[in-house]
Amino acid sequence: MKRVAVLGATGSVGAGTLEVIRRHPARFRAAVLTANRSWEALDALALDRDPDFVVLGTPPPDDFAPRWGGEWRFGADALAEAAGLSGIDIVLNAIVGFAGLDATLAALGAGKRLALANKESLVAGGDLVMRALRRGGGELLPVDSEHSAVHQCLAGRAVSEVARVTLTASGGPFREWPADRLATVTPADALRHPTWSMGAKITIDSATLANKALEVIEAQTLFDLPYERIEVVVHPTSIVHSLVEFRDGSSLAQLGRPSMEIPILWALGYPDRLDDQRQEAGFDPVRDGPLEFEPVREDDFPLFRAGVAAGRAGGEFPVAFNAANEIAVEMFLSGDVGFRELADVVLRTLERFSSRAIESVEDARRVDARARTIARGPYGESKSGDAE
Ligand SMILES: NC(=O)c1ccc[n+]([C@@H]2O[C@H](COP(=O)([O-])OP(=O)(O)OC[C@H]3O[C@@H](n4cnc5c(N)ncnc54)[C@H](OP(=O)(O)O)[C@@H]3O)[C@@H](O)[C@H]2O)c1
Repeated sequence: MKRVAVLGATGSVGAGTLEVIRRHPARFRAAVLTANRSWEALDALALDRDPDFVVLGTPPPDDFAPRWGGEWRFGADALAEAAGLSGIDIVLNAIVGFAGLDATLAALGAGKRLALANKESLVAGGDLVMRALRRGGGELLPVDSEHSAVHQCLAGRAVSEVARVTLTASGGPFREWPADRLATVTPADALRHPTWSMGAKITIDSATLANKALEVIEAQTLFDLPYERIEVVVHPTSIVHSLVEFRDGSSLAQLGRPSMEIPILWALGYPDRLDDQRQEAGFDPVRDGPLEFEPVREDDFPLFRAGVAAGRAGGEFPVAFNAANEIAVEMFLSGDVGFRELADVVLRTLERFSSRAIESVEDARRVDARARTIARGPYGESKSGDAE
């Protein structure tokens, strides 16, 4: 029986994880559940699962009156501590954003298996995360469906045998929109993803294709692949989750209906393939074909190109890209900037950074905070006064 800490239990990946755990009661138990502010949703999950304890990333609010009588812990430190606890076998990190980095480092530092959905950890903390993995002696299993696909296709083969990895992208809701219509996109339009049901931030990232840039950086870090050997192709139905082409010219792909429960199950159960076949999950070549592919419209979705360039440039750039993008998404969702301006927020922020190496978590935190301030614009800069 593996004891699992589900970080970000109240979110979309958190819900998928709890569903997978429910179907495998002899193998997994949700021992710790966490959220940031949604204490009522966390309370309901705790009543259902009866974990050892729960953690809320923020202090208890004034109206805090849980029905579940078990132990509640509070604060970001308690959250990271939970990821490193000795009684935990697997940490599934489904926190959204840079806020997930501490838990990623804590889990790997303590030698756990980390099932990682929080791609922002790898983008902003790349070298730090991989160093923690080597030092802690744990395991890092990707939960992002594309990276899970690559992991499954690689099946332990050396990266030197790989000619290239092709990550697939759905293309988002605006794949077929002409460029001039993109200026009219509203948050409601962008939150309507054609193939995946996900949290708000990643849904917007999928619409701008920033998500795919984050995933290119994630793939480079996870698999230690040069950027030249990572490609992206649009695949509108999200059936092929990614492909690996080997040096002998043979390509392997991983296919399945778009459901996060498949990569979650792989990350929790690896190296076993657990019996979890549900009627709708399998790939049916007749029903699910034809499989179509098209190039990324890089000129119309500039955050894709900017993100990959930030990853290639390294140092502060990927941290700043991630932070500025998080702020740009917040500003778009609150109506402060339009869809086309999301890229402007990120690009003008990146101009203020360099490829100076990130040596420590403190470095990453400093660059992240500074990029957020710059991204918010004149108001944000004057508010904190630490923009330079
Ligand atoms: N959704 C997908 O299908 C999918 C696929 C691949 C990768 N991912 C990645 O998985 C991660 C989670 O995505 P999601 O779609 O599940 O997000 P989501 O639905 O928005 O859920 C996010 C979770 O993180 C918690 N959280 C938010 N801010 C936090 C903070 N500052 N400190 C601690 N916890 C915090 C939330 O708690 P509250 O409820 O209290 O806010 C919630 O439990 C992201 O990195 C995303 O890129 C998601």
